[in-house]
Amino acid sequence: METSDIRDELTEILVTEEEIRQKLQELAARVDADYAGKDVLLVGVLKGAVMVMADLARSLRGHVEMDWMAVSSYGAGTKSSGVVQIRKDLDSDLTGRHVLIVEDIIDSGLTLSWLLENFASRGAASIEVCALLRKPEAAKVQIDCKYVGFDIPNAFVVGYGLDFAERYRNLRDVAVLAPHVYS
Ligand code: XMP
Ligand code: MG
Repeated sequence: METSDIRDELTEILVTEEEIRQKLQELAARVDADYAGKDVLLVGVLKGAVMVMADLARSLRGHVEMDWMAVSSYGAGTKSSGVVQIRKDLDSDLTGRHVLIVEDIIDSGLTLSWLLENFASRGAASIEVCALLRKPEAAKVQIDCKYVGFDIPNAFVVGYGLDFAERYRNLRDVAVLAPHVYS
């Protein structure tokens, strides 16, 4: 068992648990208003979006269903390649559905751009995106994201579902991973 302190592996807390809680309540209120009288299909992108999905969904008052998709972007390390492979497809048929994709982070935007195109071909009535975090400086493609939690600097972040090598997802805040951990 390691005894080292996880905090030594982080350089800075970027978004606190409390800030996330408040922001997701605000976003949920907007989602409720925008989808009043409609059933929403929340699609969480595994695994990073698990915490966002859990907290956003519990703040929503309208009817929602949840489904999950797992995708992987080829290439290791901390950069997305844009070549996306479906690891687990949706269980639901999207025909006529109001789909809200729930994401942890928009970095280059390549994964979401691929997902949006893929979902558009499945006959959804509407498709919108909710992302807790966005890195404007890292954008390679512009994503029309209706619900954004926080714009953050272009650093590799972990916590609240976000991982590095599957670790750190359980942290309650979003923090910058110290470069010595991955370089
Ligand atoms: P793109 O670049 O396609 O990012 O917008 C897609 C996925 O890559 C992961 N990602 C991160 N994961 N810290 C993480 O733990 C980060 O800073 C980070 N940036 C991107 C994430 O799964 C995102 O959905
Ligand atoms: Mg993700």
